[in-house]
Amino acid sequence: MVKLSDVNSKLMKAHYAVRGKIVIRAHELETQGKKVIYCNIGNPQALKQRPLTFLRQVLSLVEYPALLDAPETAKLFPADAVKRARMILEKNPTGTGAYTHSAGMPFIRKAVAEFIQRRDGMPADPNRILLTDGASKGVQSALTLLLNKPNDGVMIPIPQYPLYSATLALYGAQQVNYFLDERNRWELNEAELERSIEAAKKNGVNTVAIAVINPGNPTGAVLSRKNIGMVIRFARKHGLAILADEVYQENVYGQGLEFTSFAKVMHELGEKDVTLFSFHSVSKGFLGECGHRGGYLEIRNMSDDVYAEMIKLQSIGLCSNTDGQIVTYLMVEPPKPGDESYELYAKERGAILDDLKAKAEILGRGLNEIEGMHTHIPEGAMYAFVRFDLPHPKGTDPAAMPPDERLKYEAARDNKYCLRLLEETGICVVPGSGFGQQPGTLHFRTTFLPPREDITALVEKMKKFHVSYAEKLKSGV
Ligand SMILES: Cc1ncc(COP(=O)(O)O)c(C=O)c1O
Repeated sequence: MVKLSDVNSKLMKAHYAVRGKIVIRAHELETQGKKVIYCNIGNPQALKQRPLTFLRQVLSLVEYPALLDAPETAKLFPADAVKRARMILEKNPTGTGAYTHSAGMPFIRKAVAEFIQRRDGMPADPNRILLTDGASKGVQSALTLLLNKPNDGVMIPIPQYPLYSATLALYGAQQVNYFLDERNRWELNEAELERSIEAAKKNGVNTVAIAVINPGNPTGAVLSRKNIGMVIRFARKHGLAILADEVYQENVYGQGLEFTSFAKVMHELGEKDVTLFSFHSVSKGFLGECGHRGGYLEIRNMSDDVYAEMIKLQSIGLCSNTDGQIVTYLMVEPPKPGDESYELYAKERGAILDDLKAKAEILGRGLNEIEGMHTHIPEGAMYAFVRFDLPHPKGTDPAAMPPDERLKYEAARDNKYCLRLLEETGICVVPGSGFGQQPGTLHFRTTFLPPREDITALVEKMKKFHVSYAEKLKSGV
């Protein structure tokens, strides 16, 4: 039997906080009959968001083509859903049960290129687009391609989405942290990027890429065009590739803000040397089709010989799943005005995005009213990264601790806080240490995906909990 001591030490080292110990405890409490409000993960349909009707209609017809010839179908399905399903089956006559081209079905890659062209007003090449099992697999493919030697490292934001730290640990690569600027709406700071790469160099790390998440997870921030331009220039100066994680591109709520892609800014800057990997997904936005595992990876500034290696890598995994590919197609090619399904589609999309925007406000404003808690009202994505203050036990001075000890001390504090919060209120959030945070600060990440009434109740419960928890610490109970 395989023993724990036999297990790949790189796997043992990897952590993935959003599905960690606190979430396991939440499941236990739920089986004991306690109501849990899951705010730990951006999994919209698990929190009652309904799937878009058109998307599921097309998918079911494609999965069971016999329906297309059934007399009831014309009554049950709108004509454009039937037409779309027939078109998909014509373009992919082997059906959903057959492997596809390693990069994904060609007509879908073409549709993705047209989507990028419509979004950014510049051309995109279908032969630099790969369909992936969610963005996660795209990120892992890019990292597999880039990480060559054991001292190769990738700059990742702190706080970050733990896919990055976990994958770097898994691949035995070096994690190069750069802190996001909490006081400046979580933007990237050039001096901090320079500090980070210099520190890595001093430690013998060869930095090969920088990862940026925009809109941000866990920060909920939307980056400005100027900030993106700064990152591109920084990457050029240091010869880095860029991993632009843009899975929340449809989730922008802040007044006057809009999503700007790295690809667009690169195009405007005429940048031809920096390799860019951009990721998108069907899991987020207003689709929330996390379980269908669909997404794409677009690559810019990559030669044919290197791209051939990327295709080889994809072919080692044969292809991404076909339903995920089809959902990606429907994401980039939704019903158009005049189509029978358009009105319902637009209504469903609008309702989901309006609800998310309202919930971001309710959550952000409510938490900011709690003494000792602070968050930026989320401008985008599905999360708030909330800073909270707690008194230290008498005689403890974290500033006097060595960095590793301090990290452990602070991680123990936010973990304990989140665990008590769960036990006492049923609210399941993720400790900030799972994403990384500035020494001396404590955070937790919460989504604003639960239904509105749950968010309002959550704010009330958190207030009561936080006040009493801080009070107990102060009085040494
Ligand atoms: C920033 C970010 N990137 C990637 C992913 C993974 O998404 P997917 O479901 O497409 O693999 C997530 C999921 O939460 C995310 O938040």
